[in-house]
Amino acid sequence: MGSRRSKIVGTGLGYPARIVTNDDLAKKIDTSDEWIRSRTGIAQRRFVDLENGQTITSIAVEGAEKALKMSGLDPLDISFVLCCTATPEEWMPIEAARIKDVLGLERAACLDVNAACSGFLYGLHLADALVKSGAHAHILVVGGDVFQRILNWEDRTTCVLFGDGAGAAIVSVTELNDPKKDSHILGSRVYAALDRDNNLTVTKKDPEFPARTQLLTMNGREVFKWATKCMAQACMDIMTEQKISPEEIDWVVPHQANIRIIEKVAEFLNFPMEKVYVNVDQWGNTSAGTIPICLAEMNDKGLLKKGQLILVTSFGGGFTWGSILIRW
Ligand code: UT7
Repeated sequence: MGSRRSKIVGTGLGYPARIVTNDDLAKKIDTSDEWIRSRTGIAQRRFVDLENGQTITSIAVEGAEKALKMSGLDPLDISFVLCCTATPEEWMPIEAARIKDVLGLERAACLDVNAACSGFLYGLHLADALVKSGAHAHILVVGGDVFQRILNWEDRTTCVLFGDGAGAAIVSVTELNDPKKDSHILGSRVYAALDRDNNLTVTKKDPEFPARTQLLTMNGREVFKWATKCMAQACMDIMTEQKISPEEIDWVVPHQANIRIIEKVAEFLNFPMEKVYVNVDQWGNTSAGTIPICLAEMNDKGLLKKGQLILVTSFGGGFTWGSILIRW
């Protein structure tokens, strides 16, 4: 008999209704398509239509419904919902419970996970452990954020970088017999260090704009350095731990914050860019949404083939970062 492991059996993403191009932004703030594209690789981002009732819950549910359908599972099979977000609709009721309720996952326990942009990677790490331990057999992991709620439109260095977005994956139990062929999560590594210098924060009060609360601030240059170094190290660590060489990796799926960060990580690890999935041009940085959106898009496009090795890595506020190796 093989060992008890976990694998991803369904993926899906939700589409925020509004598409906002760099030129649209340039009409209301002092920026340009040329600056944003050349410094970040972003061409457009999507925002949920808050005025017409679209929320983090709606896009998360859209992604989760697709993932559930792909998995072929019954909603009652799902015994846990992990919702990875830094921007729940409200602190309470928790976001995972809202998703459970809309989807009719009557037997599921619920937990929100906030590890900022690394949320979904942390969520997969937890789901893998919960499945392997025998505590749960089928877990819905959702990752997503609606950063428009915390963007400071008077800070052009930060507001042009982010979009809204959410995606989901179903993590299910599997029996592992042949590690080179059978779909499973090989392993994951998660890390954290306190961002003592407040390089990436959501401040309670911004002294410059006292009327506003809960705004995102970022020291882009510092975060850039941290993100590059940490994601590259996390990838090295998991490959060493799992005795996998860079040549064996079929796809690298990095957090989508800036094409220059992605290229630096790839260069450091000697991965050709053809093996690196990039969609930051279409979505901007959707925080905890980037990884599940990438996986769902890749799956929908038929890019993920059974038996391939996928290396996922992320970095976010906290700071939090990590890596995960998946045999698809
Ligand atoms: O998910 C969490 C992870 N987040 C990240 O990883 C983001 C990491 N950081 C970055 O992606 C980059 O540091 C940024 C894209 C935020 C900034 O790129 P940069 O090449 O470090 O630019 P900079 O901050 O050094 O700014 C260069 C110039 C400045 O003008 P001066 O001082 O050289 O005259 C800025 O004022 O670009 C100016 N600038 C802009 N110009 C037009 C800054 N923002 C803008 C803008 N449009 N939106």
